[in-house]
Amino acid sequence: MMQGEELFLLYLAAGCLFILAIRGLASPQTARSGNVLGIIGMALSVGATVWFLPLFHYGAVLAAICAGGIVGTISALKVKMTALPQMIAAFNGLGGLASALIGLAEILQATSYGFEASVGLVVGGLAFSGSLVAFAKLQGGLSSFGQFRYQNVFNGLITLALIGLWAVFLNGEGLAAAVWLLLVTLIWGAAVTLPVGGADMPIVIAILNACSGWAAAGIGFSLANTVLIMTGAIVGASGTILALIMTKAMNRSFREVLFKGGHAAGQSVITGQKSAKAGDPRDAAFILENAAKVIIVPGFGMAAAQAQYAVQAMAAILRDKYGVEVKFAIHPVAGRMPGHMNVLLAEADVSYDDVFELEDINREFATADAAYVIGANDITNPAAKTDKSSPLYGMPVLDVKKAKTVFFVKRSLNPGYSGADNPLFYADNTIMLYGDAKVVTEEVVQALEQS
Ligand code: TAP
Repeated sequence: MMQGEELFLLYLAAGCLFILAIRGLASPQTARSGNVLGIIGMALSVGATVWFLPLFHYGAVLAAICAGGIVGTISALKVKMTALPQMIAAFNGLGGLASALIGLAEILQATSYGFEASVGLVVGGLAFSGSLVAFAKLQGGLSSFGQFRYQNVFNGLITLALIGLWAVFLNGEGLAAAVWLLLVTLIWGAAVTLPVGGADMPIVIAILNACSGWAAAGIGFSLANTVLIMTGAIVGASGTILALIMTKAMNRSFREVLFKGGHAAGQSVITGQKSAKAGDPRDAAFILENAAKVIIVPGFGMAAAQAQYAVQAMAAILRDKYGVEVKFAIHPVAGRMPGHMNVLLAEADVSYDDVFELEDINREFATADAAYVIGANDITNPAAKTDKSSPLYGMPVLDVKKAKTVFFVKRSLNPGYSGADNPLFYADNTIMLYGDAKVVTEEVVQALEQS
C-alpha cells in the first residue's frame, strides 16, 4: 500500500471514531464511552500525522504537542466545574486563532490565495475574537457591557468593510489584503458578540463553536489534509445543529441574536416595596414530606455550590421514607453550558428515568405540591412570557409558579445571569430558603431524617 493510502485509511478510521464519539455524547448513558472513542480518534489522527511527517519536522511538532498537552492537562485538572464554559470558550478561541494563523501562513508562503485559506482566516478570526469576548462575559468581566449608541450602524459598516476586503482578497490582492481582512474580522467578531447577553449567550457560544470547526475544515482544504476537513466539518456541523436547537429552545432567531444584539443583558429592576417570604429548612422539610409530588429544578447555583449530592439524598429520602413522587426538571439552558445539569445529576447517581426535559414536564407543575428550585433563577422567570422589555422575553421557562408551593434555594434576591429581577420571589406561594444551596439542602435532609 502506498504511504498516502495508509495515511488516508488511518484518517478515515479517526473520522469514524469522531462520528461515533459525537453519537455517544448525545446521551448521558453513553457519554463516557463517547469521550473515550473521541480520545482514541484524536490520538490516531495526531499519531498518523506525526508518523508520516518528513523527518526534519519532528522536533518542532513534538515540542508543540508537549506544550499544548501540558497546558491542556493542567487547565483540565485545575478548572472548577462552574468555570468549564469559560475554558471551552477559551479553547474554542485558540482553535479559531490556529486556523486564522495557518491561513495567513499559507497566504504568506504564497502556497494558497484560495477561498479555502480565506475561510480559515475569516471564520477562524471571528471564532477567536468572539470567543475572547464570550470568555470575558462568562467570567463576569464584561457582564455590564450592553449596547452602545449607533452600534447597529457600526456593526453594519464593519460587515460591509469585511465583505469588501474579502472580495479584494479573492481578486488576487494577496498578503496586504489578507492582513487587513484578518484585522477587520477580529473587530467584527468582537463587535457582534459584545452586545449579546442575557439568555442569548448559549446560542452565541454554539455558533462560535461551529465557526471554529468550519474554519478548520477550510484550512483542511487549503492544506489538502483529510482529517482536518473531516473533524472541522464534524465540529462545524454539530455546532451548527446545536445552535439551531438552542435557538429553537430559546424561541429566538439567528438574525435577532447576531445582528440585533439579541436580548442584551438587562438591569435588575429595583424591587422597592415588594417583599419576599423567607422560610427555613425545617419548614421546607415539613411541606416536602407531606407532599404527594415534588419537582426539583436545578440551576447554576446548584453547580456553584456542588449541591447535586445533597439534592440526590433529599430526593431519595423523600421517595424511600415518605413515598413522595420526585422528579427533576431540566431547562435547555440551565447552568452555563448545554447538558450542565444532566452531567451533575448523573455524577450524583440520579436515575435518568427521573430527569425530564422542559417540554416533557412543564405541564406537571400544575399537579405538583411543591417545586424545589435549587440555585435556578432565569429559567423560571415568568417575565419571559409577559414583559417585552425583559432580556429573557420569548424564552420558554419552567412553570414552577403553578406548583402549590415554590421553594427558591439561593443566597439573596439577586438576579441571575440575565440581570432580570424575578417576580416569582414575591409571589404568595413562594418561600425563599436563603443560603448556600448545599448547606440549605443538607439541612433539609437532616430535618427529613429526624422527623
Ligand atoms: P441563573 O439565572 O444564572 O441563576 C442562578 C442563581 O443561582 C443566581 O440567581 C444565584 O443567586 C444562585 N446561586 C449562585 N451561587 C449559589 C450558591 N452557592 N448557592 C445557592 N444559590 C446560588 O441560572 P439558571 O436559572 O440556571 O439560568 C441559566 C442562565 O445562564 C440563563 O440566563 C442562560 O441563558 C445563561 N447561560 C446559559 C448557558 C448554557 S449553555 N446553559 C451558557 C451561558 C449563559 P444568589 O446570588 O442570590 O445566590
